[in-house]
Amino acid sequence: MFETLTKAPGDKILALMGEYAADTRSSKVDLGVGVYKDEQGVTPVMSSVRKAEERILANEKTKTYLGIAGNKGFGAAVLDLVLGNSGVNRSRIRIAQAPGGTGSLWILMQLINRARPGAAVYVSDPTWANHNPIAINSGLKVATYPYFDAATRAVKFDAMLAALDRLTTEDVVLLHGCCHNPTGANLTHEQWDKVAQSLVRTGALPFIDLAYLGFGDGIEADAYGTRKILSAVPEALVAFSGSKNFGLYRERIGAAILLARSPDEADVTNSQLLNIIRGAYSQPPDHGAEIIRTILEDASLRAEWEAELAQMRNRMIALREKLASAIRERSNSTDFDFVAEHRGMFSLLGLTPEAVEHLKAENGVYMTSDSRINVAGIPEERVGDLADAFLAAAR
Ligand SMILES: Cc1ncc(COP(=O)(O)O)c(C=O)c1O
Repeated sequence: MFETLTKAPGDKILALMGEYAADTRSSKVDLGVGVYKDEQGVTPVMSSVRKAEERILANEKTKTYLGIAGNKGFGAAVLDLVLGNSGVNRSRIRIAQAPGGTGSLWILMQLINRARPGAAVYVSDPTWANHNPIAINSGLKVATYPYFDAATRAVKFDAMLAALDRLTTEDVVLLHGCCHNPTGANLTHEQWDKVAQSLVRTGALPFIDLAYLGFGDGIEADAYGTRKILSAVPEALVAFSGSKNFGLYRERIGAAILLARSPDEADVTNSQLLNIIRGAYSQPPDHGAEIIRTILEDASLRAEWEAELAQMRNRMIALREKLASAIRERSNSTDFDFVAEHRGMFSLLGLTPEAVEHLKAENGVYMTSDSRINVAGIPEERVGDLADAFLAAAR
């Protein structure tokens, strides 16, 4: 049977990680892989997570199945975190735990395809490399809306809004809730207001990918767009990830959230969501969910987690400012100031693929071929070297 298959394309990031590992230069720098790293270049287990795990180990009474929707306390805590005091009507909302943000995106795309087979999902140009395959594998079509202005490295907001205004009730719009991947360019709160108004006008279904809550400007600021949209529209979907903000990458913890027109419609839609999960992996694993529940429900662990999250966020913002100012000093220009304006883990530098190759070959600086850098991967003592290398590559 397998002779019918041809080799699937390899994953570019994994290939880049392999090349980096094989590079023997001690001066090499990894700005490619999309995980947070601390000053030592380590992706740490957060202290609040470790304490929660100790409590779980000491108190766990059973390993029996969780149920299709997963850990109920986790679901309630994540809804509180995402919705805050926004006054979104909870009776129209349902949540199901899922394996990571990716698993959440996958079950929600399956749900869209059940509701409207072959619907078009509009993604930002560019978007996270996994959005398209998840949509296509779910039977959906992918189209794009303008997003990143390669000249200013900011959001092309007028063009984006004009494209969103042309959508219909048949369409789905995938929005990055905050910390856009790969560009690092984000909507202002006023722009989110306008996007919400556009969605109300057109009736297109908003689908928010919330993979970096707390990594940009803080939990409240980063949740603004999601809360605004969920307060304004009749129907919406949100894919939440706990991989980055809780540092739980390998625990595969996320949540699929749906907002329906009425409580009855929410129940019907949720029954389809649960049916999709049952027919895929039956029930989610508990460990990551129980960690997040334990942290969010306990005032002192929650305060500790928020402080650790702020530390990660502030470190990334400081690295952005350092790199932008090192480049400004050397070049006497503000051409790279966008790095300090961007938020989240990534910035798209706007270099050519040749320049990216050159940086790898000459300087041992690794980034994805679209010139996306992970700012958390910048070693602080190498900021000057990187500024020199980026300026040389941009010439
Ligand atoms: C934009 C975006 N969405 C979703 C995810 C999913 O993350 P995970 O499945 O690890 O929770 C990522 C991870 O890199 C991402 O960058």
